[in-house]
Amino acid sequence: MADSNKSLGRPSTVPHPAASTLLQRLERPRFRDLTTTSQQAVAGLAAPAMSGSVTFTRNPMRPHKGSCMSLWSDFQTNTKRPIHKWKHYFPAYERHFSRFVNTDVLMVEIGCGEGGSLQMWKRYLGPHARIVGIDINPACQAFAEDQIDVRIGDQSDQAFLAEVLAEFGTPDIVLDDGSHVMSHIQASFDLLYPQIAKNGVYMVEDLHTAYWDEFEGGLKRKSSFIEHCKDLVDELNADHARNALEPTEFTRSTLSMHFYDSIVVFEKGRHTQKAAPKIGSRTSALPQNFTGFWPKT
Ligand SMILES: C[S@@+](CC[C@H](N)C(=O)[O-])C[C@H]1O[C@@H](n2cnc3c(N)ncnc32)[C@H](O)[C@@H]1O
Repeated sequence: MADSNKSLGRPSTVPHPAASTLLQRLERPRFRDLTTTSQQAVAGLAAPAMSGSVTFTRNPMRPHKGSCMSLWSDFQTNTKRPIHKWKHYFPAYERHFSRFVNTDVLMVEIGCGEGGSLQMWKRYLGPHARIVGIDINPACQAFAEDQIDVRIGDQSDQAFLAEVLAEFGTPDIVLDDGSHVMSHIQASFDLLYPQIAKNGVYMVEDLHTAYWDEFEGGLKRKSSFIEHCKDLVDELNADHARNALEPTEFTRSTLSMHFYDSIVVFEKGRHTQKAAPKIGSRTSALPQNFTGFWPKT
């Protein structure tokens, strides 16, 4: 009490020491946003001579600004049902899921395990989120609670998946953490991807199994989901294939594909118009008859 009276008594032009420390902190460059090289540059230190090093770039994996709870810290401090995830998945989750935080998002997770991930999504996505867990193991029914529903069935059974959609509606997020068998992943993707929201996200994890024989995978093996994704990269770009490839609904409805170690993410969104206008005024430094070549048509 005595301390706070003291601080109230200070002339308003002289900031309290604690306040000036705070101000200094706010004015300081935000080192966490910068690469190591740029931190050294800001601090006036010689940057290591690295060829091709990128300076002053923001970290694209940085969580959404509005999210105060890090999924990673939630995972690390979890005392509820067990969650089983690879550590390096967390930045990817935050990157692709953070825009749904505190919305009325419908998330479907294939593969409930011991129920902990369902609870983690509920905590992360907020009070309006609805989480639907799908699992082949009937014991997973016990994981149902407020905001979490569980339906028992096989992820390769498309009739079952269609029933789940009919019951719960259009998912905004699908996360496939189920059997990790190639034909199962493919069956779920074929049925669910066209049905997710037009700005939805579809993520398949643990795709190291795409290289493992016992999961119907193998390097360059046609049945591997990674091989299917390589073809989908072409389908994403079909508008530019000069009739070599017919654009499909996938071409029209997919904005981006992201590849990580063991993860593939599809982000949906409808292209309004694909065009490459040139905007701006000509610089006098260029000759009048200057023509450049940019492969835009
Ligand atoms: C890796 S665990 C899920 C882990 C959980 N998501 C987590 O993060 O803690 C895989 C789950 O997929 C389920 N599963 C296996 N084959 C399946 C199938 N064909 N259809 C649906 N679920 C399946 C298993 O019963 C198991 O619970």
